[in-house]
Amino acid sequence: MEKVLKTSKKVMVLCALALTLAGLATAPPASARVAPVSESAATASVVGGTNARGSHYPWQVLITANGKEFCGGVLIHPMIILTAAHCLVDEKGNYYEDLSGVSFRAFAGRTSLGSGGEALDWNVARVDPAYDPDRETHDWGFITLKSAASAPTLKLAGPDERALWKPGRTATVTGFGKLSDGGKGATVLQQLRVPVLANSGCSRYGSIFRKSTMLCAGYRRGGKDSCQGDSGGPLSVAADGGQRRLIGIVSVGNGCAMAGFPGIYARIASPANSARIQMEVRNLESLDSFPSGYTGISVIGSGARPLGCAAAMRRHRQDRQLMEKRKRAVKAARRYGKRSRVKAAKWRLGVAKHRFFESRTTANRACS
Ligand code: ARG
Repeated sequence: MEKVLKTSKKVMVLCALALTLAGLATAPPASARVAPVSESAATASVVGGTNARGSHYPWQVLITANGKEFCGGVLIHPMIILTAAHCLVDEKGNYYEDLSGVSFRAFAGRTSLGSGGEALDWNVARVDPAYDPDRETHDWGFITLKSAASAPTLKLAGPDERALWKPGRTATVTGFGKLSDGGKGATVLQQLRVPVLANSGCSRYGSIFRKSTMLCAGYRRGGKDSCQGDSGGPLSVAADGGQRRLIGIVSVGNGCAMAGFPGIYARIASPANSARIQMEVRNLESLDSFPSGYTGISVIGSGARPLGCAAAMRRHRQDRQLMEKRKRAVKAARRYGKRSRVKAAKWRLGVAKHRFFESRTTANRACS
């Protein structure tokens, strides 16, 4: 049992970053993370994505190690990058940033891999104390900056915004991760729309999938997915009013885009986890003595409704008005006493009622 899980886990969390590091560091303690190449044979790429503009995802962070693509991240606070814990520490909990001979850098809002965007002033990395490198639970961590970024931040979906990560919602994953199996990473930021799935969508992962700290998103039939190198990057959702929220962090997967194995994302927006992250942000603000103006910042959103909710509600209000109008028309017809007129008015009211109930269902689905 134990062995099966260990082996499958090795395949599963095999990440480009370990491979990258092995080539970079002089004496990599990370070598244990490097699975034999043959194990990666099943992996592919952000499979099925399209080119994106960094300006559409200004809070998207690219982390490089010695100039090479390493991981993604997301600016959640002017002085804090949220990324995957497995991008920051090895399986023993040793920080990659402590390796000699490897220099890490971070950039916000890049469109192309090698240039542009805003260089962020890396200070120190810290992972969630509950991160378990064996199980990849609580797979998130923070990089504080020495000076504030000017790029805008992305807020975590809040406890009153649960509708944003309900199964069936469409989210977007972005990153510079691999584009082909064992091959090249993206040179232009990739974006891919993926549906949020119910936990059952990741049932084939068995006990590897832990629902309290992991979120399943993608396609059960495979073909489209995030991939190695995308780790740490955002899974975000559009909301009404041009808003966007963060609901997940690219974490692990069994290969990439394999049928039956959608992507596993760190579930950072559950009320328990977002509260935890907010608390950790508070700690970092004082631990690293952020300048005034950069403390007491809320990284959790509130009040955002899923994209399309407002429009669906507007349609429903119109349908209600129409229904009321036709109710009055029936009454009026009755007063004038002509039977055929009453009948016609009633029929029209029936149609309006039908539309009213239909758009109510649609609005409920769109908003909650
Ligand atoms: N662990 C990988 C990384 O460090 C990301 C894997 C995501 N895999 C997936 N099939 N969605 O980049």
